[in-house]
Amino acid sequence: MIIDLQNKKILVTGGAGFLGGRVVDALVARGVPRENISVPRSSELDIRKWENCEAAVRGQDIIIHLAAVVGGIGANREHPGSFFYENLMMGVQLVEAARLVGVKKFVALGTVCAYPKFTPIPFKEDDLWVGYPEETNAPYGLAKKMLLVQAQAYRQEYNFDAIYLLPVNLYGPGDNFDPKSSHVIPALIKKVYDAKIAHAPFIEAWGTGSASREFLYVDDAAEGIVLATERYDKPEPVNIGSGMEISIKDLTELICRLMDYHGEIRWDATKPDGQPRRSLDVSRAEKEFGFKAKTDFETGLKKTIDWYVVDRKN
Ligand SMILES: NC(=O)c1ccc[n+]([C@@H]2O[C@H](COP(=O)([O-])OP(=O)(O)OC[C@H]3O[C@@H](n4cnc5c(N)ncnc54)[C@H](OP(=O)(O)O)[C@@H]3O)[C@@H](O)[C@H]2O)c1
Repeated sequence: MIIDLQNKKILVTGGAGFLGGRVVDALVARGVPRENISVPRSSELDIRKWENCEAAVRGQDIIIHLAAVVGGIGANREHPGSFFYENLMMGVQLVEAARLVGVKKFVALGTVCAYPKFTPIPFKEDDLWVGYPEETNAPYGLAKKMLLVQAQAYRQEYNFDAIYLLPVNLYGPGDNFDPKSSHVIPALIKKVYDAKIAHAPFIEAWGTGSASREFLYVDDAAEGIVLATERYDKPEPVNIGSGMEISIKDLTELICRLMDYHGEIRWDATKPDGQPRRSLDVSRAEKEFGFKAKTDFETGLKKTIDWYVVDRKN
């Protein structure tokens, strides 16, 4: 059954964040009146606290739970405890609060970091439990993975319509470029930009460059989440990805080429590579709710670089 979103009250936690802003835009583009969408900020409603979860879900029909503390390998290594605790508490309490007030649908967001370190390529949803995640992001990935357990258990016991999506690494304009917490694409764009400004003869990149990643343009991810909200109502988790795969070495060279930087790339092998390979099987999302990523990787990357460069100049 397809849910008509237009007459629903929708809470988007983390709705002012990188992905959240795009999800709100995608809902509005579907015809949901902006006043029907709640986007509480953490400064007003910190959902690590139970009473704020109760307040946040009151009067809502649908919850799209995107709020999280996130970051790249560096941030995950520095904050494994808070990443575990905060993500777990926000999710677990919000689902319980939503169930208690009779929310009609809960969309929980997982992450590719929930997959085992050595998952057969492409990652299939059915392989989610075949091993422990890569150590640098395991506390974050596992905290978010508990939401899948909770969604399935609540569906079984309370007939609660909770679905669980697993987005791959996202990128796009508006991404977080703070070097303390950024993911690999914004981190590399900033490094190359800074090197160009300083006329530096080389950049230093983390790891060996041999790991691979899949990337999904943020607007495509938002579209996938909205389609799933409308059309998916099953206990099985669903990957949200693009199906592409690129090595970090090739990615770094591509960013240098797109930014017209001709210096040397030095690899700092004392820094971790993270998970060896990442590439999702994206067939379930297409089969179940018709989601297929649209944005070609190089086009999306150019848009991200242009956005960052223009933002620096203003
Ligand atoms: N970015 C990726 O590559 C990626 C990949 C896979 C999955 N995801 C998932 O996608 C979701 C969104 O990620 P993102 O990259 O858009 O992150 P983001 O830009 O950092 O947004 C996260 C939002 O969470 C909110 N938040 C954090 N702590 C909160 C708290 N205690 N109470 C209430 N709100 C809180 C923040 O709200 P304020 O701004 O008001 O503080 C922030 O806007 C997350 O669930 C993440 O795990 C992201």
